[in-house]
Formats: sequence, C-alpha cells, structure tokens
Amino acid sequence: RPPRRPIVAGNWKLNPPTRSEAVTLLRLLVANFVNHRDGNEYPDDDDASDGPEVVIFPPLPYLSDAIRILEGSGILVGAQDCGMHDGGAYTGEVAPSMLLSMGCSYVLLGHSERRVHFGETDASINMALRGCLDVPGLRVVLCVGETLEEYENGMLERVIDEQLSGCLNNVDASAILRDGRVVIAYEPVWAIGTGLVATPSQAQAAHAAILNSLSRVLRCTAGEVSDGAIRIIYGGSVTPDTVLGIMDMPDVDGALVGGASLNADSFTRIYDGT
Ligand code: G3P
Repeated sequence: RPPRRPIVAGNWKLNPPTRSEAVTLLRLLVANFVNHRDGNEYPDDDDASDGPEVVIFPPLPYLSDAIRILEGSGILVGAQDCGMHDGGAYTGEVAPSMLLSMGCSYVLLGHSERRVHFGETDASINMALRGCLDVPGLRVVLCVGETLEEYENGMLERVIDEQLSGCLNNVDASAILRDGRVVIAYEPVWAIGTGLVATPSQAQAAHAAILNSLSRVLRCTAGEVSDGAIRIIYGGSVTPDTVLGIMDMPDVDGALVGGASLNADSFTRIYDGT
C-alpha cells in the first residue's frame, strides 16, 4: 500500500470529571507537543503533513476549551459521537455541522460503548456517518470490532463485514477512497479497557480482513482499496509499551487510545511510537 499519514487519537470517554482537570490535561498536552515541535519532531501548522496526525476526542462539554487551548498546537479536536440530523426539533441532539462550525475536525462514530450502552446500530451509525459526510471538512473515525465470544467462534470476518456493510451503506465509495475522510478504527471489544491488547499479528489479521471487506462493501477491487486513502487504526489497551509492535504491522495506520490518553506523558510516548 502507498504511504499513509499515521494517526494517533485519544478518546477520553467520560473523563475527566471536571472542567478544570480537562483544562490541565489539555495544557499538559500542549506543553508536551510544543516541545516536540521545537525539537522539530512535531510539524507546525504550516507543515502539518510531516508527522502523525494527532486528534483528541474529549467529552462534549469540554470541546470549546479543547479547541481554544489546542489552537496552533497542531493537535486536532473531535467529538465522541453526533446525531444524524442537521437541525430541527430534536432535543438533546448534536448536529455534525455544529461540530464543524465550532472547530471540530473529526467525529468518532460507532464505538462499541455507544452500541452496547446506548442502542446504536449499524443503521443509526450509517445515518450519522452520512450526515457527517454531507458536511464538507468533517472527517469520521468509524469503529468496528468483535466481542470475545465472536472472536473465539471464528466470527471476526463476518462481524466486521456486517458492521462495515451496514455503516457504509449508500456512501459514495469513490469519494471516501479518494479523500480519506473516513478512517476505520478496529477495536476488538475484548481488548477495550481490559489490558488484553491484541498481538501485532492479531491486529494485522483483522486489518487485512477490514481491507478485504471494504472491497466487497464498496464494490471495488482489492487494488482500489489498497491504493485508496482510507486509513485503518487499532484501538484497545494501547500503551507506550505495546504501540510499537502494533504500528510495525503493514496495515496498521495508527492508534485509537482510551485510558492511556488521559495521561499527557503516556499519550506523548504513544505518539512517539506511531
Ligand atoms: O476508543 C478507544 C478505546 O475504546 C480503547 O480504550 O482504554 O482500552 O485504550 P482503552
């Protein structure tokens, strides 16, 4: 596959509990990343294509602090979910265009915690994803992954195929292959928050299965998928110690980090490994 810009993303989930702790974490991140930039390891805004892309997904109430504090640091901001409507009588919802207009670059969609605890389905995720793609400039990280039971029963390929075909239904295949606005995150449910990180070869096998499934779902050849701009990142108990082995795999384009992204030093060390 042609070279792809790696991504290191931090999903803060429902943390930290207070705004002041969020602001402290954001400031620590800026301090760490500005040090990198001064040491020429991190690109400045004018030369952003050099290093890995860095994205933080804080909880919704902290988004404006994150956008303000991270401005000029080279770190992008995303929301952890969004609604499928772009305005109107939908109390409690968040529209993709609102997120873009406040300065978000990304939206995370289809996280297994949204599927398990909040009833999101491939069909509802598909509506939200298409809503995001209707807003030029907004990018999506779409999460897929199997449970332990499914993994043990050899159902990984089937589950991934089902999730991708549901979530990418009626999406303009040639557009996403060309513009890379959709990033796929492989997050095996059994690895999330458990410390049971997938081995590099398990991650590679799943990413290869995702590439395979994409060509079926997007109705194109394997070559078109592998030459395309869709990146596939791994999430599930990533730490500074495990990221290197996983990133070494040919079809792993980055990491989606949960727990370890709540510590600025760990997250920076993970960035160093991508
Ligand atoms: O979205 C990232 C996540 O689900 C992985 O969480 O805590 O296992 O790194 P964690």
